Amino acid sequence: MAKVIVNNLNKIYDNGFHAVKSVCFEADESEFVVLVGPSGCGKTTALRLIAGLEDITSGEIYIGETLVNKIPPKDRDIAMVFQNYALYPHMTVYDNMAFALMLRKDSKAEIRKKVDHAAGLLGIESMLDRKPGQLSGGQRQRVALGRAIVRNPKVFLFDEPLSNLDAKLRVQMRAEIVKLHRQLGNTMIYVTHDQVEAMTMAGKIVVMKDGIIHQIDTPLNVYNHPANLFVAGFIGSPAINLIQGKLVKGDGKLIFDCQDFQLDLAPHQTEAMTGFINKPIILGIRPEDIYDSVYDMMAELPQKMTAVCDLVEPLGSEYHVFLKTKQFEITAKFDPKQLPKIGSDLQITIDMKKSHFFDPETEACLV
Ligand SMILES: Nc1ncnc2c1ncn2[C@@H]1O[C@H](COP(=O)(O)OP(=O)(O)OP(=O)(O)O)[C@@H](O)[C@H]1O
Ligand SMILES: [Mg+2]
Repeated sequence: MAKVIVNNLNKIYDNGFHAVKSVCFEADESEFVVLVGPSGCGKTTALRLIAGLEDITSGEIYIGETLVNKIPPKDRDIAMVFQNYALYPHMTVYDNMAFALMLRKDSKAEIRKKVDHAAGLLGIESMLDRKPGQLSGGQRQRVALGRAIVRNPKVFLFDEPLSNLDAKLRVQMRAEIVKLHRQLGNTMIYVTHDQVEAMTMAGKIVVMKDGIIHQIDTPLNVYNHPANLFVAGFIGSPAINLIQGKLVKGDGKLIFDCQDFQLDLAPHQTEAMTGFINKPIILGIRPEDIYDSVYDMMAELPQKMTAVCDLVEPLGSEYHVFLKTKQFEITAKFDPKQLPKIGSDLQITIDMKKSHFFDPETEACLV
């Protein structure tokens, strides 16, 4: 177990592409940190820099107290689990898991103990004599995890280790990795483009885009207090609704006006937003903070409006309702009550207390 500190990390590839830009973050001892962001944002590059598989252009990486910039990968006491497993096809599961320990010249008995223990944790005890070709994708992924576990490294690095698995197995394996982390207590840095994986697994989320970190916080803080438009839009499914309008002065309050409808701001928003009167602004409201007015009981600051029901996706446990006003399309997540009729006018309630406002120029979340 060791703390990882990444300080002002930059990677410019030989072709001049700046893939990681002044990245700073820390993974505390025993912490589970998830780097999340869209494809190409520099997640794998950042992880490979920490692993030592890529030379850094500038910046510092500490593992524990040690500056590892110049330390070769094998001496960094890390284990990396890749998306494609990278198992040796000609070796048995046992030998795949034991390989690094054999190179390290651990005793046979010691290796047996460690491999058996890891296989037990992962439920693959009965497969130790098989070759990777005789395993399912999920089982291969377990072997790849086992190979990392037996080494008991200071730090685990995961690069999208579940993306080759089917949806059900992915859900199962992500819970298993979280449990494993709880049991082992090692520091883990996990890379994914899947925001659900990030939300469900992380102690701390690092949100990246175009090589830059946009926010570092707990999953719930990232969800409830997104730093900017990008984070708000990237985290959450269905995505947050973003509606362009302006703020106008009402009677002792501020009103959001987008022409199609007007909504009163909550008192704390009015206070924070007085500098934006008559200026363009973007309202952000998550689908679950929009209610069918007939059943509305949850909104803390209910504001009503009308929209046409354009499409309904009944998922069983919830309905995703796609609404239309003259200019905007709005997605709502309703409790499964009465299925709204397509094409009908729906009275909806927006919980303004849960809404956010973004500056269209800087894209920062203002409140
Ligand atoms: N060897 C390289 N030379 C030049 N550019 C590279 C190299 N490797 C990666 N890149 C570029 O750097 C950027 C970041 O790549 P990286 O693999 O880190 O993205 P990622 O966030 O892991 O994406 P994904 O989710 O698709 O795996 C991409 O635009 C990629 O094209
Ligand atoms: Mg990648």
